[in-house]
Amino acid sequence: MNTIRKDQYALITGASQGLGKSFALELAEKNINTLLVSLPGENLSVVNEDIKETYGVDSHFFELDMTKPEELDAFTQQVNERFEVFLLINNAGIGGTMKFDHAETRDIDSIIKLNVWVVSVMAHKILPNLLRQPKAYMLNVSSIAAGSPMGYKTVYPASKAFVYSFSLGLNEELKDTNVSVSVVNPGPMATNEEGSSRLNKHGLFARMITLKPDEVARYCIVHVFKRKRIIRVNFWSWLLMNNVPVWIKLPLLTEAVRKEIA
Ligand SMILES: NC(=O)c1ccc[n+]([C@@H]2O[C@H](COP(=O)([O-])OP(=O)(O)OC[C@H]3O[C@@H](n4cnc5c(N)ncnc54)[C@H](OP(=O)(O)O)[C@@H]3O)[C@@H](O)[C@H]2O)c1
Repeated sequence: MNTIRKDQYALITGASQGLGKSFALELAEKNINTLLVSLPGENLSVVNEDIKETYGVDSHFFELDMTKPEELDAFTQQVNERFEVFLLINNAGIGGTMKFDHAETRDIDSIIKLNVWVVSVMAHKILPNLLRQPKAYMLNVSSIAAGSPMGYKTVYPASKAFVYSFSLGLNEELKDTNVSVSVVNPGPMATNEEGSSRLNKHGLFARMITLKPDEVARYCIVHVFKRKRIIRVNFWSWLLMNNVPVWIKLPLLTEAVRKEIA
């Protein structure tokens, strides 16, 4: 990591809670200014104030629905005009467990828009800003779920496989520039109540591989600044996902996920 100037910022999407909040706190602790984004009315101003008071860095917050093209457009334009962004963390993402034929079209839309469209458009709109920095970084948050299709989640793992592929492609394209692109595929994290109760249904093994968002954030930041292309936060889950043949893992994972909705 080069010396970071006082006028440079890290931009973190989905920073009101969960892994995004952990990223913001970890960066602020490292004396890095932050720009925080989440949906309106979800505590983001409190996180922002907390960051400024506790760590003495500069921080700004933006409440918007990133899946709305006009809101995302206005937001990214404002960021590019007002701030020097040397790190973009595309963290905001959603999932969901349900029978595909019970899902509403809007459920499918939301996952694809946030996990696929927003990640791509944020990268595209913020890239000119990253390119004007002496050194810059992008981290895209995928998931261990990118390693296998899964029934009852269907759209989510497919969207995270997109994030993984997109990140590697973009990193290769930018390899002769000042910008590196990293992707992380975390395993399960107990980031919110819904997630914790879902994980509890999976028994001991799931609880054993469950990660703490603060630890994931800390590990990622170290490796982003080392320009690591792929960040593996849970080696054993990663090894299993990438080496067990799909005809074995697909039915096993689908059965495990089915328990969530049983
Ligand atoms: N939790 C896990 O087990 C797990 C495992 C692997 C990968 N991941 C990935 O890690 C990332 C973070 O997950 P998490 O569990 O920390 O998520 P989370 O606790 O549900 O937080 C999601 C964040 O995204 C924001 N967000 C959601 N929709 C948005 C929208 N339309 N516009 C702007 N912001 C929006 C939320 O804002 P509000 O607070 O305002 O709603 C929140 O800040 C996601 O990409 C997820 O897929 C999670």
